[in-house]
Amino acid sequence: MTRSSAPGKVYLFGEHAVVYGEPAVPCAIERRAEVEVERREDDKLRVHSEDLTLDGFTVEYGGQSDERPDVDVSESLIAAATGYVDGAIDQVREVTGEESVGFDVTIESEIPLGGGLGSSAAVTVAAIDAATRELGVTLETDELAERAFRTEYEVQEGQASRADTFCVATGGAVRVEGDDCRSIEAPDLPLVIGFDGGAGETGSLVAGVGALRERYDFAADTVEAIGDIVRTGESVLETGDLAELGQLMNVNHGLLSALGVSSRSLDAMVWAARDAGAYGAKLTGAGGGGCIVALDPTEATETALKFTPGCEEAFRAELAEEGVKRLE
Ligand code: MEV
Repeated sequence: MTRSSAPGKVYLFGEHAVVYGEPAVPCAIERRAEVEVERREDDKLRVHSEDLTLDGFTVEYGGQSDERPDVDVSESLIAAATGYVDGAIDQVREVTGEESVGFDVTIESEIPLGGGLGSSAAVTVAAIDAATRELGVTLETDELAERAFRTEYEVQEGQASRADTFCVATGGAVRVEGDDCRSIEAPDLPLVIGFDGGAGETGSLVAGVGALRERYDFAADTVEAIGDIVRTGESVLETGDLAELGQLMNVNHGLLSALGVSSRSLDAMVWAARDAGAYGAKLTGAGGGGCIVALDPTEATETALKFTPGCEEAFRAELAEEGVKRLE
């Protein structure tokens, strides 16, 4: 039996635009998904999953059987979650050459599913790492990130960047532009997360931005403008000027909103954070629902979010220096 964990992540800047070759800067946060893997005698895949939202619930299904999951969450979310695990195991079979190996997989996650904190990337990275080690193969971090990216790419039907998977495999703050992925220095950032209890569907949100970008030059310009924010944000990160970082996050949120990926509850949380005196706030991840990230060294934003209608949970997030962790 082997066990690995991987952290969640927030985007300081650049989600969506990164899918079209612009740079993005996500950073890993100390909320983890832990995956335990045990080889089976047969070629079946069974996945038991807990705490896929901050509220916690249980999902149990047989990845290669017809069993229906017995849960009170949307089927599309379950389909997405199981899709990532199935895809991860396909990568494991390919990289180890053990085409017909089966596994019992147990997931325990503190990262809300589909909430923009990198739940799918964390589960995918931890699952590939634990399952390859179960077969006696330990992948280098870059190979692990690449295999996890291929999983996301397939599940998201060719519309995925390397940003989430590289970030959670590597840990810390990273910069991703196309296939150029690297770690960068980041100051200690006072990150506050607000979660509306919901989730967006990454695939359709990414497709929506893609369609808008194809149709209108000004939408394509908006995507490029997000790239400009990221390039400016990178140099501001080096100075550690929180006020300017916050301002850039605010503009980034505005542009994401213009591209149609914000929501009423995300906007409400962003405004609650700004009104409470945060340096800046934006949605994080694919959008459509889920989480915002704000910069505030005081307690004010967290408190304000807790009283904001539509916000289900607010918490401070520490930067996770370590990406994948090998636990057993
Ligand atoms: C989702 O966490 C981030 C997106 O940019 C998609 C991707 O990069 O694959 C929306």
